[in-house]
Amino acid sequence: MTRRQLPRWSELRPLLRVKSPTLDPVERRLSQAHTIGDLRTIARRRTPRAVFDYTDGAAEQETSLRRAYQSFSKVEFHPNVLRDVSAVDTSRNMLGSRRALPFAFAPTGFTRMMQHEGERAVARVAERSGIPFGLSTMGTTSIEDVASAAPNARKWFQLYVWKDRAAGKELVRRAQDSGYEALVLTVDTPVAGARMRDVRNGLSIPPSLTLRTILDGATHPAWWFNLLTTEPLQFASLSSWEGTVADLINKMFDPTVTVEDLEWLRGLWKGPLIVKGIQNAADARMVVDHGADAVILSNHGGRQLDRAPTMLELLPSVLDRVGDDAEVYLDTGILSGADIVAALARGARGCLVGRAFLYGLMAGGERGVQRTVEILGSEITRTLQLLGVTAVDDLTEEHATLRQ
Ligand SMILES: Cc1cc2nc3c(=O)[nH]c(=O)nc-3n(C[C@H](O)[C@H](O)[C@H](O)COP(=O)(O)O)c2cc1C
Repeated sequence: MTRRQLPRWSELRPLLRVKSPTLDPVERRLSQAHTIGDLRTIARRRTPRAVFDYTDGAAEQETSLRRAYQSFSKVEFHPNVLRDVSAVDTSRNMLGSRRALPFAFAPTGFTRMMQHEGERAVARVAERSGIPFGLSTMGTTSIEDVASAAPNARKWFQLYVWKDRAAGKELVRRAQDSGYEALVLTVDTPVAGARMRDVRNGLSIPPSLTLRTILDGATHPAWWFNLLTTEPLQFASLSSWEGTVADLINKMFDPTVTVEDLEWLRGLWKGPLIVKGIQNAADARMVVDHGADAVILSNHGGRQLDRAPTMLELLPSVLDRVGDDAEVYLDTGILSGADIVAALARGARGCLVGRAFLYGLMAGGERGVQRTVEILGSEITRTLQLLGVTAVDDLTEEHATLRQ
């Protein structure tokens, strides 16, 4: 039988840990986020349903996105033990220069809708963290305003080719004049994907004031207050639009775009040209033969064609076909630093993350995005150490296989 006694103060005292309360509400919130999943939970609480769903959701049955998440869970790491891993180098050469971390912020539209600080906040975090920032054609901050908010960030401008070629040419010129490092042409959006959550939520840009959204204002007052008391939410590179995202894409985007348009852009843009949205090896080869310096294997975060290939599984065939002729990046479904390590071990030059930083933005603005980088960065470091690897550049295929 266990003998019991009354606890003595001298024994209790060393166990007591009274923390002084964190008064700053953003700090308090973010201190509870230890994973990207935690940031997502906070983001969901703080953002109106239609806006959260626009970010979180994907197309049709969302199979592409689900499979992408599953593909990362199929990764099996193979560690080496008894290595000195006290210091780890997470940097990576991307487009010819060294970046502190092997990932970039993917271009995302309507970023100020998720949280009013928007693109400027994300670009500033990119600048501080030494990683590239992608500004979308559908962004809510102009090319020039992002450049002056984060003059030293490595900025990539993402272009959609529109029916109005002169307007696209003008954006390319402005990006060049504002010192953007690379041009990213997105090619997986000839028409809009069917994002069923947006259809069901009746999402329009800008969000309209209906009885439903007004009621939502009661449960997300901070979001609505910020929306209504900061600069109006509008596209920075398009004339104003009132309607759904799908209608906008279908009206402005050009479904006749071909590889000849890539050559046209190659002629206009002096720096590195990246093609985003490649989903098979033959297309990767084709765009490289027509002037692309890098390709991003991506199915747009599962937001375009549903049941698209998973990028981690597609990667080996693309690497075979492209060889050293172009850098190969990968996105869709990355929610942890270990996902990034797996992609690099399997041969990707780098990764892009979309939702991972948007959840951070929605959870805590600029500091939330910084938290995303801290989480991903420490996960990359820890995974490398546990793998017995001291540098991202030392990862090989043998460190990560896919279980069937
Ligand atoms: C809310 C949202 C908006 C996006 N907008 C764009 C866009 O304007 N242009 C683009 O090329 N890709 C866009 N994407 C796709 C991202 O660039 C990237 O490919 C995708 O987010 C990667 O998947 P992940 O979110 O699972 O990391 C968007 C993605 C999200 C989540």
